[in-house]
Amino acid sequence: MALWGGRFSQAADQQFKHFNDSLRFDYRLAEQDIIGSIAWSKALVTVDVLSYDEQKKLEKALNELLDSVRQDPQQILQSDAEDIHSWVEQKLIEKVGDLGKKLHTGRSRNDQSTTDLKLWCKAEIAHLISGINQLRKRLVFTAEQHQDAVMPGYTHLQRAQPVTFAHWCLAYYEMLTRDESRLQDTFKRLDVSPLGCGALAGTAYPMDREQLANWLGFSTATNNSLDTVSDRDHVLELLNNASIGMVHLSRFAEDLIIFNSGEANFVELSERVTSGSSLMPQKKNPDALELIRGKVGRVVGALTGAMVTFKGLPLAYNKDLQEDKEHLFDALDTWQACLDMAALVLEDIKINYQNCQDAAKQGYSNATELADYLVAKGIPFRQAHHIVGEAVVAAIAKQKALEELTLEELKVFSDVIENDVYPILSLESCLAKRSAKGGVSPIQVKFAIDNAKQQLSL
Ligand code: ARG
Repeated sequence: MALWGGRFSQAADQQFKHFNDSLRFDYRLAEQDIIGSIAWSKALVTVDVLSYDEQKKLEKALNELLDSVRQDPQQILQSDAEDIHSWVEQKLIEKVGDLGKKLHTGRSRNDQSTTDLKLWCKAEIAHLISGINQLRKRLVFTAEQHQDAVMPGYTHLQRAQPVTFAHWCLAYYEMLTRDESRLQDTFKRLDVSPLGCGALAGTAYPMDREQLANWLGFSTATNNSLDTVSDRDHVLELLNNASIGMVHLSRFAEDLIIFNSGEANFVELSERVTSGSSLMPQKKNPDALELIRGKVGRVVGALTGAMVTFKGLPLAYNKDLQEDKEHLFDALDTWQACLDMAALVLEDIKINYQNCQDAAKQGYSNATELADYLVAKGIPFRQAHHIVGEAVVAAIAKQKALEELTLEELKVFSDVIENDVYPILSLESCLAKRSAKGGVSPIQVKFAIDNAKQQLSL
């Protein structure tokens, strides 16, 4: 029988029951529902609804249930209870009889479901942060190993200026650092307890909601009951955080897919994270990375879906809000899986130093150096830019790199050019010159690695 059966004389249509029930996905909130129920039973003692002994009995039974769902969460799915709140109450009544029927006094599934989900979100944030930090560590280790791997840096996917593989790794390290801090911010805002707001107007039992919040590990209790039972900002924030995090991971994946292509051949992915073709025996496909790139779609879709679901809902609780969970569970599971997979891909990636360096030397990525050289010899930058443009056109015609032009050939473009230009045009010089904070010089990259290691307590 449903929790609300008394008012009804007809059973629910099976089709409606299946449509309405949420147990098949909210069973994941079992632990939180039980922990919330224990705290609620303690609050009921303070308002004389339960005696101390009754509360102890309920707490013992709820703790047994907690052990049992921790061991076998799937058992819940055998039940035809409407949702996780009904399931816990049913189980409790099976264990302690009529005493179990007192637990829901002064409480509603409206404050209960949002409390459960907030508790789940708090644990999930800790889990995601640990996934992010694993990947940050892996990026720093990889950067540390490949400080000497010079490769082309791109803008518009055109070779622009040389960078190092280490500098590339550290770019993603920065994005992940922001992803982590976004989760910390979200945590602070959602760490407020909804329990004791009842269905919408507040509980009719004069309990201390701050104490209740404290028992549940929340920093404080919410201020307004109407807002509390209908607030899903934390769901939207987490979906937003996940979407931004997945956008980062999709760019990481795309860069590596390009680096791994036959044309670039800068990196080689391990056989542990690639797969073969059923038809073409030579293929080793970057499936792990393609899936990371592809899965951003469902995460951004979940954010969009949740935004549209919550838009225009009248206060306070509406059943539409039950749609919060599937979006959130799927998006956060996906983000977590992609973080883990990205770390695995980096674990034994091989960098082809020679190919990276050869590519960095092509494409006139030292043209800016020649312009800066002319500037140092007194030529205004705009004019220097023009001169180098002409030199590049001539070099292309001769199928030579700038540093392969003889001094005589270079002097055609400006007679201030002397033999001292050649060291300036080397890859080493291109890197070393970029020594201001955040630049690609080996000293700055080392400094960034040391800072990152300190941040991660490595
Ligand atoms: N399963 C519901 C949810 O997740 C619980 C709240 C039900 N409240 C109600 N008034 N029917 O939102």
